[in-house]
Amino acid sequence: MTSTVLVAGATGDLGSRIVRELLGDSAHPDTLVRVLTRPGGGTARAMYAGEDRVDIHEAAYTDEPALVAALSGVDAVISAVSGTATVILDAQRALLAAAVKAGVKRFIPSDYSADYRRVTPGSNRNFELRREFAATLDAAPLRGTSVLNGAFTDMLTGQAPMILFGRRRVLFWSSPDQVLDFTTKDDVARVVALVALDADAPRVVEVSGDRVTARSIAQTLSGLTGTPFTPQWAGTTGTLSTMSKIGRALSKDKNATFPAWQGMQYFVSMFSGEAQLHHVDNERYGPHDWTSVREVVQAHLRRTAVQSA
Ligand SMILES: NC(=O)c1ccc[n+]([C@@H]2O[C@H](COP(=O)([O-])OP(=O)(O)OC[C@H]3O[C@@H](n4cnc5c(N)ncnc54)[C@H](OP(=O)(O)O)[C@@H]3O)[C@@H](O)[C@H]2O)c1
Repeated sequence: MTSTVLVAGATGDLGSRIVRELLGDSAHPDTLVRVLTRPGGGTARAMYAGEDRVDIHEAAYTDEPALVAALSGVDAVISAVSGTATVILDAQRALLAAAVKAGVKRFIPSDYSADYRRVTPGSNRNFELRREFAATLDAAPLRGTSVLNGAFTDMLTGQAPMILFGRRRVLFWSSPDQVLDFTTKDDVARVVALVALDADAPRVVEVSGDRVTARSIAQTLSGLTGTPFTPQWAGTTGTLSTMSKIGRALSKDKNATFPAWQGMQYFVSMFSGEAQLHHVDNERYGPHDWTSVREVVQAHLRRTAVQSA
């Protein structure tokens, strides 16, 4: 059966991967994609103009009639927008209200994170924005499905400074044996596309491409490099939380989406265990080769070896 899925934020990193999955083999070949983008950018046209099954709709999140028009005839909305309160709360609430008005049946919010539902109030700004939007979604007369996936594995070799490759250390806070959930962006995108086409998807779908600890990551790196990597205590989650509060108080741009202090908050939520996933269902959409932490760091080591050769 033909499904029409609207993707908001389809010009972004995760959003573009989701569109690729909706057009690829894991989705039904009749799936139609609507890309919702804010006016004036031109990026969506540059990315999708040649795709037969993609329609581009430009609308500001403050323009309700334009949003409702873009959403009419849509079966499911995927939000992959990124930002702080003005995006996660204001833009997503406008999108949700328009979806309800247009008679859309299903909505997937831009969560794609560790489990934000039980984190201590004041401990993680980005998680608490998701929790606040989830309350709005819960009260809406349509079906919401959140995809929770832990941290993006890709960040281990980029923005998340947990592995000190040069110093052969893997940082941990409080415990080197705390289980940490990681899933690659591509694996998350596949699940999101499948959730959008799954009329029976529950309120939350949890996946974890790999479950590791600081200790197991150090062992993996020792094996891959042939030189010992050791777990390095970097403090407790309590001290990290205090540092993030100081960083936040001193920060100039309070609305940056991923400032360093928010990265610290992410580690606090993960290493305290508060954001660990407890209902992982990796089999929901059948067998899949989830990309492991080992594969991601191995690819990184190969790239850096080539660059330094
Ligand atoms: N679990 C993790 O470790 C992790 C890591 C990174 C990101 N994430 C999450 O994944 C999701 C997608 O992130 P991403 O990195 O793919 O995002 P991104 O590349 O920064 O972009 C997402 C899209 O959001 C739209 N957008 C930007 N500012 C907006 C605004 N003010 N109002 C409305 N729309 C706006 C843009 O689309 P248009 O310009 O086309 O409108 C943009 O292409 C977010 O929820 C993010 O927090 C999770």
